Amino acid sequence: MTEQSKRIAVTGGAGYIGSHTTVELLEAGFEVLIIDSFANAEDDVPDRVAAIVGRGAEVERLDITDGPALGRALAAFKPDAVIHFAGLKAVGEAVAEPLDYYRVNVGGSVTLFREMAETGCNRLVFSSSATVYGDPEQVPIPEGHPLRPTNPYGQSKRMVEQIVEDWGRANPALAAVNLRYFNPAGAHPSARIGEAPQGVPNNLMPYLTQVAVGWREKLSVFGDDYDTPDGTGVRDYIHVVDLAEAHLAALALTAAGPGVHAINVGTGQGYSVLDMVRAFETASGQQIPYVITDRRPGDIATSLADPSLAEQVLKWRARRGLDEMCQDAWAWQRGRNR
Ligand code: UD1
Repeated sequence: MTEQSKRIAVTGGAGYIGSHTTVELLEAGFEVLIIDSFANAEDDVPDRVAAIVGRGAEVERLDITDGPALGRALAAFKPDAVIHFAGLKAVGEAVAEPLDYYRVNVGGSVTLFREMAETGCNRLVFSSSATVYGDPEQVPIPEGHPLRPTNPYGQSKRMVEQIVEDWGRANPALAAVNLRYFNPAGAHPSARIGEAPQGVPNNLMPYLTQVAVGWREKLSVFGDDYDTPDGTGVRDYIHVVDLAEAHLAALALTAAGPGVHAINVGTGQGYSVLDMVRAFETASGQQIPYVITDRRPGDIATSLADPSLAEQVLKWRARRGLDEMCQDAWAWQRGRNR
């Protein structure tokens, strides 16, 4: 690797997946610039990342919708590649405030890509989501499955993927990977970084950890009448450190040559909500009280990755299992409760 190819800008680098990816990048010897508005991240995340690795990233506190500030930051850092996580991610909020979601997720991405083009940066890894598939016609889901997102959050991810593809057609030097994440879970084994949602968690794993630690009384299981083995929703949970490692593999792919790829990042293994409750009870030694409630509008029965393209093209596969996800999430949550 040349000096130049070691410089990576990470938008949203103080967030949940961004901070774990920054740790892996620093540990692999990359120089990292975190670009984050800290709208949904704690101020000391970069310090905690530095404490894990023994050296830190540079930090620019700015919003990706602020083109001039972003342009100055990229011109000064001269990244060889950008990993783009920054965005809004709450599905319910996206339904209520679609214009904000399109402004930040789509508008912010276009602003970023324009500034990358300005500085001559042609390598991108984009944080997409399995939500682009909508209600799947088949599981496991291959990348060629139709894209039919069912809410503005998912639409914003699909639109950005489309923009990246169109940019690639116009700019044959572009090397980009749209990574479609399934359900990230767990935390760094150091317990220094992890998921820290503001307010009531929308997602299952952070809700479970908050029940286990006593912050919330009980879990609501959203429906037990799905067409799944125990009637509760089945998902493909992936350890956030495995997911972070997939970004380094995607970066390597962008270094290998131009082209735009869309690749699932999942394990191919599904667990139901009740499987998750039991696994978390074992990891935490705590009983998790739960009640069965109505289905959550917009939820699907089963979401499961076909991870074979990632294995072929990225030479990557998830290595950490459900027990590790639960143990690491629990250690992180307990650390915050002290
Ligand atoms: C959700 C988002 C998806 C996003 C993903 C990120 C929705 C509809 N979808 O997916 O767009 O990409 O998070 O990780 O919000 N569950 C409960 N009780 C809870 C919370 C969840 O029973 O308090 C169940 C859900 O019904 C589902 C499973 O747990 O079966 C996982 O839910 P969640 O963690 O919210 O993820 P997704 O719905 O897959």
